[in-house]
Amino acid sequence: MDKHSDLINAAREVLDINDLGSYTVPSRELYPHQWLWDSCFIAIGLANYDTDRAKTEILSLINGQWSNGMLPNVIFAKSSDHSKDADIWKSWLSPFSPDHLSTSGITQPPMLAEAIVRIGQKLSIAERRSWYRTVFKPLLAYHSWLYNERDPHQEGLVLLVHPWECGLDNTPPWMSELHSHLMPWWIRLIEKLRLDWVINLLRRDTRHVSVEQRPSAIEALTLFSVQKRLMRKAYNVDKILTHSLFAIEDLTFNSILIRANEHLLDIAKTIKEEVPKELIQQMEKTESALEQLWDPYTNQYYSRNFVTHDLIKEPSIAAMMPLYAGVISKDKADKITQMLENKRLFGPAYPVPSAPINSPWFRATGYWQGPTWMNTNWLIIDGLHRMGYTSHADALSEVSVELVNRSGFYEYYDPTTGDPAGIDNFSWTAAVTVDLLSKK
Ligand code: GLC
Repeated sequence: MDKHSDLINAAREVLDINDLGSYTVPSRELYPHQWLWDSCFIAIGLANYDTDRAKTEILSLINGQWSNGMLPNVIFAKSSDHSKDADIWKSWLSPFSPDHLSTSGITQPPMLAEAIVRIGQKLSIAERRSWYRTVFKPLLAYHSWLYNERDPHQEGLVLLVHPWECGLDNTPPWMSELHSHLMPWWIRLIEKLRLDWVINLLRRDTRHVSVEQRPSAIEALTLFSVQKRLMRKAYNVDKILTHSLFAIEDLTFNSILIRANEHLLDIAKTIKEEVPKELIQQMEKTESALEQLWDPYTNQYYSRNFVTHDLIKEPSIAAMMPLYAGVISKDKADKITQMLENKRLFGPAYPVPSAPINSPWFRATGYWQGPTWMNTNWLIIDGLHRMGYTSHADALSEVSVELVNRSGFYEYYDPTTGDPAGIDNFSWTAAVTVDLLSKK
């Protein structure tokens, strides 16, 4: 057996370990529920060897859809071991949440369309049509919800109300905004009195992973305090915006949305289904609105504060994501790939770091403030390919697979040394490795 098939087999084993039958947990120890974009990456990996199981993964996500179209970022396992996690969210406070299971009250990057299409590509034409027919309405409902609820001024950019929604929890742009606008006094006090060590004693995540590799105690408290504010408004975005006015038009999310919209239209065309005209117009607006996120002074894209419209000029991995959107000019794509080539920015030995090496935020194993993650590498590789940077894409694919081969299926990696960090046997790392290797 060659090296590649050994690695594929090892990756499949990881996915098997985390398979609970109808969905796959990101990690048995650390994340014992179903997560939205994790399951999409998992389905993309599974599609390479078991399309039925990949379909089931997606159908489980759809099973958690709210009646207003929202797809929650977490669907809680029914097992009593972790029942308290659902109580933190109390999704039942919203009239739109499903009755038969408990979920979170926020969403995550809209990778669903990509996963659906990747599965579709592995099927015969007849099977593909039937698959698309099964999932089209929920997918359309999700995109309609994104535009109706999350783009209240019809700007073309959807807004997020919690950093968990962008999937990059403690990423610098979100953390700096939260720090300046939404830190409750009691968290500031804990910070000032340096009492974070007490909080760390109470944390569950640090039982599995060393505290330096997780969001700091202050960051974790801030994330939970925002969640509590959202819960008090029963996850109703109108009320949330009236009361807290904290929202971000997130670069990663909107870049993924542009690609997802394209997929949605392709799916509709394949099965001759109508997408409402107004929705198509809103989708088109997103492509042009992305350009408002470009900063000509620093030559990169950023997320934007929804209220002030100020760009949040804290560089992060999000700067790479317009490549995946695939609709930017060659000139801007060149600027992005130059950052990727620069060792002091996004091009260390084991790229792509979640924050640039020269950022004051950079911590080599600090969760989304430095480490290399395989799902974002997958998105960047795909974007590079589609934008015509084939040798960049191949090089990044090669180094990603090498890293996993060398260090194992970890949650993330130190981008300077390649050392593993976070939890072992992490599902999306395994899934995207299968996908990258299956293309070789
Ligand atoms: C963390 C990550 C998020 C992921 C989740 C489950 O919250 O930041 O992107 O979906 O864990 O793996």
